[in-house]
Amino acid sequence: MTETIKIELYVENLGETQAIATQLAHIVPAGTIILLEGDLGSGKTTFMQSFGKALGIQTTIASPTFTLIDEYMEGRLPLYHIDLYRLEPPQVPSLHLEEYWRGEDFPLGVVAIEWASKLPTVPAEHLKINLSVPRPERSPLSSQNLNLDPDTGSGEFAESEEFVEDLPCDRQIQLIAQGSTYIDLLKQFQNKAAILFV
Ligand SMILES: Nc1ncnc2c1ncn2[C@@H]1O[C@H](COP(=O)(O)OP(=O)(O)OP(=O)(O)O)[C@@H](O)[C@H]1O
Ligand SMILES: [Mg+2]
Repeated sequence: MTETIKIELYVENLGETQAIATQLAHIVPAGTIILLEGDLGSGKTTFMQSFGKALGIQTTIASPTFTLIDEYMEGRLPLYHIDLYRLEPPQVPSLHLEEYWRGEDFPLGVVAIEWASKLPTVPAEHLKINLSVPRPERSPLSSQNLNLDPDTGSGEFAESEEFVEDLPCDRQIQLIAQGSTYIDLLKQFQNKAAILFV
């Protein structure tokens, strides 16, 4: 069985989500597969907008809900941004998404798939990012203040004992690495971002 590790983060606002995306974009290698999950409006596209910007993509990254696949070739790595929301799982194989991580017809880059739960088969090794809006009954001790800068992703982690109200801008972000390459990536991410393991 492929080895897995998980980091679970709580962010208080949009800037902290952006900082995490920025930090991750700085360290991903070519060939990275990111599976994004979370309800409508949880922040998958928002995450990829900051991620793409940090890769050096200047074009505005839009939601691929209607285009299905958007390709950005101008950054440090190509970004293939995909959204499966409008498809049913049996329709997905006809997109031939594996071409993006085979490294033959397309240069290897980052493949990021929103609504990845629609994939009929999941690549054995990948990074899953699961965004959700926490429920109000969340424990006060789960509130953490990451104090990260949205653009550089740098900053310090500080603990807060205060109860944080259920603001619409807070999010729970799970980063789940499957396979040794992605486990190494998450460890590197943890070292850089001073992140809390739960
Ligand atoms: N902490 C946060 N992290 C991410 N997004 C946030 C946060 N706080 C507020 N937002 C807002 O939530 C919205 C998220 O929308 P977004 O389109 O990124 O969601 P999505 O998960 O891609 O939805 P869909 O499933 O429809 O594609 C944006 O308007 C964003 O500004
Ligand atoms: Mg989206």
